[in-house]
Amino acid sequence: MAVIGLILLHALWTLWAPNPSQTPPNAGGTIAGGALSPERVPLVTGEEPIIDIFTRPGCPVCHTIPGIPGANGQVGPRLILGTTGEQRLKDPGYGGQAKTVHDYIVESVLEPGRFVVPGYPERTMPAWYGSKLSALALEKIAAYLEQQTEPESAR
Ligand code: HEC
Repeated sequence: MAVIGLILLHALWTLWAPNPSQTPPNAGGTIAGGALSPERVPLVTGEEPIIDIFTRPGCPVCHTIPGIPGANGQVGPRLILGTTGEQRLKDPGYGGQAKTVHDYIVESVLEPGRFVVPGYPERTMPAWYGSKLSALALEKIAAYLEQQTEPESAR
């Protein structure tokens, strides 16, 4: 009995103990392990809490996103489009259709190849998010990210 009790306790402990070395709570493990594939990413309807809208598709694996716990990814740019969005639209190399930061974010998620942010790798951000994120989810992502700002000195 005591042994079973101990095993149960241990199992409970590993389930509940905070583990800061693990990256995004939902995306960690499987997705961060390089298995970020469309089969593994659930459909995001947009009704989920904002944290899940970013975490389920695995955005935190590659991006740092203010206000999203565990979103410390370094592969892509920090998602602070309130600060960086206008610069992208003004970039001489920008050839997309967007006229507003909001539309630029939606475009960046649906067609990452349209404009590759200078200094970051191309063909790295998944190009299949259009089949995993509902229109509502995309709207919420854009509405959230266009609000995120950060002073130059913090970057
Ligand atoms: C496997 C890594 C990876 C994942 C996962 C990923 N991205 Fe990206 N993302 C990148 C890279 C690299 C870039 C920069 C190159 C480019 O523009 O394509 C980028 C660029 C962006 C940009 C443009 C940023 C800017 O500063 O102009 C946005 C917006 C964006 N990603 C949003 C998202 C969102 C939202 C998700 C989740 C639904 C996501 N990304 C998932 C790698 C990723």
